[in-house]
Amino acid sequence: MAKITYIEHNGTEHVVDVDNGLTVMEGARDNNIPGIEADCGGACACSTCHAYIAPEWFDKLDGIDAMEEDMLEFAWNPEPGRSRLTCQIRVTDALDGLVVQLPEKQI
Ligand code: FES
Repeated sequence: MAKITYIEHNGTEHVVDVDNGLTVMEGARDNNIPGIEADCGGACACSTCHAYIAPEWFDKLDGIDAMEEDMLEFAWNPEPGRSRLTCQIRVTDALDGLVVQLPEKQI
């Protein structure tokens, strides 16, 4: 389990416990956190689960595969070195304390 902080674009913070094996996207969805739409349900086919990862965490995550990299180009205002698709980040104990910032909007 990991305690994850989701910060909405307006600054509202949501700190929730997310079970191992879920994705960071599912942690937001299951806790009704606004800002992540996840239209494709986690299939890496929509980019509406885009979020910015806090700098101190970005390099600790598993790398971005080619499919995610392609889909990130369709996200709203992606930033290299910060942007991820949260459906592609699997939660483990190692992510305890993760902070993700949600973009102004999803497209
Ligand atoms: Fe569609 Fe992540 S939920 S790409």
